[in-house]
Amino acid sequence: MSGTVLVTGAAGFIGSHVCEALLARGETVAGIDNLDPYYSPAEKRANVAALQAWSRFSFHEFDVRNADGWASVVAGVDRIVHLAALAGVRASVDQPLEYVAVNVDGTVRVLAAAVQAGVRQLVLASTSSVYGQGTAFPFREDLPADRPLAPYPATKRAAEMLAYSYHVAHGLNVSVLRFFSVYGPRGRPDMMPRLLAESLLHGSSVTLFSGGQMWRDWTYVSDIVAGVLGALDTPRGYEIYNLGCGVPVLSADVVRHLERMAGRKANVRTTPAPASEVVRTGADISKAAAHFGYNPQISVETGLKLFWDWFAAR
Ligand SMILES: NC(=O)c1ccc[n+]([C@@H]2O[C@H](COP(=O)([O-])OP(=O)(O)OC[C@H]3O[C@@H](n4cnc5c(N)ncnc54)[C@H](O)[C@@H]3O)[C@@H](O)[C@H]2O)c1
Repeated sequence: MSGTVLVTGAAGFIGSHVCEALLARGETVAGIDNLDPYYSPAEKRANVAALQAWSRFSFHEFDVRNADGWASVVAGVDRIVHLAALAGVRASVDQPLEYVAVNVDGTVRVLAAAVQAGVRQLVLASTSSVYGQGTAFPFREDLPADRPLAPYPATKRAAEMLAYSYHVAHGLNVSVLRFFSVYGPRGRPDMMPRLLAESLLHGSSVTLFSGGQMWRDWTYVSDIVAGVLGALDTPRGYEIYNLGCGVPVLSADVVRHLERMAGRKANVRTTPAPASEVVRTGADISKAAAHFGYNPQISVETGLKLFWDWFAAR
């Protein structure tokens, strides 16, 4: 019989969806999260409350930076999905030490706990921003990733490499997943779809970089979750996978789609992009497709509609 899956960052956007999918397929799930105030802890508490409807879900308010208390966190755990992180690119420029503490030191704590528990697979969340401005397009996992534009991707790249060192030293199976701009219900309030939706519903001003002439490979959360579960079920030593949709979308088109759904104009202010912002992201997803059948289903038009319907009904 399978053991428990530990999900770090369980109260967050992607974490709450991953927990839900694991529970729906019959797993026992232990979630940890410190309910960090980067955005509303009330939103995170609501995510946890919804998960607590499942008797196979348990939640522990716990900080991944903690030196102690891991033995009880990993008791009975045989797989880990490590999503807990500080995840804002621009915020990381102002708070590099906090990003290092959570994303690097915290990841080492998780890796050590994984070894202690003898887990058979650890999935580690990384980001498309490790590619920086990119030397080739679309981004493939074997491109250099040593020119991050902000502390956030630098800490994620460090976490990827530390995970490799744990694989070598301890035989830990790790699949690193580089997520590309994830959106959907419960999406992060600091990200573009949510800021635009706020503007459309409440008139707040939203900043659009470079007049919307930037591209992101927007990936709907259910596709990301399918990739996380696929990777979790497929230990292969140490591997890195892109999880994107595979279709870069112009930011100006995201604005246009949401404005059409709302039937009004967003209050958009455009500024030059800060140096920490990549101009264009796009995922080559053939490796994840070959190794665990990753096959994103949701187009940006459909995904933004699902997102907008959720947002407008809140
Ligand atoms: N959303 C995206 O587009 C995206 C893109 C690339 C990578 N990622 C990565 O995916 C993961 C999940 O991101 P998300 O968008 O769901 O963000 P999120 O902020 O909603 O979730 C992260 C969770 O981690 C928790 N956390 C932060 N510090 C912690 C600590 N010290 N101890 C325990 N928990 C802590 C937060 O409270 C939060 O609930 C992160 O690792 C992020 O870097 C996200």
